[in-house]
Amino acid sequence: MSEGLYQSGLEDDGLYTPTIKPHSIEKIRIHNYYVALFTTSMRSLWPQRAYLGLYSGPGRARVEGTGEIIETTAMSAFRPRHPFTNYIFVDNDAQCVNALRARIEALDADHDVTLIEADVQEAVPQVIEAMPRFGSGHGLLSFCFIDPFSAALDFDVIRKLGSRYRMDFLILLMLGRDVRTNFAQYLEDPTDTRIGALIDDPHWRDEWLSKGLGRRDLVRFILGKFDAAMTRLGYKAALPGDAHPVRVMGKNVFLYSLVFYSRSDRGRQFWDATRKGADPQMRLDL
Ligand SMILES: C[S@@+](CC[C@H](N)C(=O)[O-])C[C@H]1O[C@@H](n2cnc3c(N)ncnc32)[C@H](O)[C@@H]1O
Repeated sequence: MSEGLYQSGLEDDGLYTPTIKPHSIEKIRIHNYYVALFTTSMRSLWPQRAYLGLYSGPGRARVEGTGEIIETTAMSAFRPRHPFTNYIFVDNDAQCVNALRARIEALDADHDVTLIEADVQEAVPQVIEAMPRFGSGHGLLSFCFIDPFSAALDFDVIRKLGSRYRMDFLILLMLGRDVRTNFAQYLEDPTDTRIGALIDDPHWRDEWLSKGLGRRDLVRFILGKFDAAMTRLGYKAALPGDAHPVRVMGKNVFLYSLVFYSRSDRGRQFWDATRKGADPQMRLDL
């Protein structure tokens, strides 16, 4: 891992390299810091450690403004000193999957990797098929990063994976750019399922209206409902302030929240350490 927690200043490798906004670097730093902590600390405790990247992207991007090429989360997941034992990636864009495959093949070491070109909502059976088998003597601890472009994420994906595996989740909830921006439409159109699917409550409008909530309550409401859905699955409840807000760089425009869920106290200690440690002021060589 480079000093800034991600590989930067890379040469163009000729493969698909989409452009990302500078604020995406904050997400990558947080992801990478957590991954480094997880892989270092869990290596001696769990013989199998799986990484699952949903909405994985192609592994590299060009930063808007500077044009600098950096490694994004999927490729960064291979960089820790002690990598995961298994990797599974899902993206529905063939360009992303093909570029990620070529980049992984170009790595020095061999890894156990499954690439799935499919819609995330439909890919769960393939993910389960690709996950390592586990049992006494060959335990499995997994980390899943979910990184969609929008709030169109069906909680069912998390339920199916989280109820089957011992799996920690880092999830991007697109609460600013999508939920807040389009809220009037989601509220007023009773056939729209986006928010209900995300927070696992098709009747959320009743609660919203009966409590007389307004726009200033929106982010707290969705985070609370999402938290309730995760705790129903047996995950530790988030504490106030646990969700990490990401804003447009240099401006106070809220884009999305990064939320973390684990069933273990150690997981949340790692999350606390990650939020402190991934701060650009900190220079840790992981
Ligand atoms: C925000 S980008 C991912 C960024 C990447 N994780 C990173 O670290 O830079 C979202 C990705 O999801 C893919 N995607 C969008 N909708 C999808 C869907 N329904 N199922 C699977 N992949 C999808 C896109 O092709 C894109 O690569």
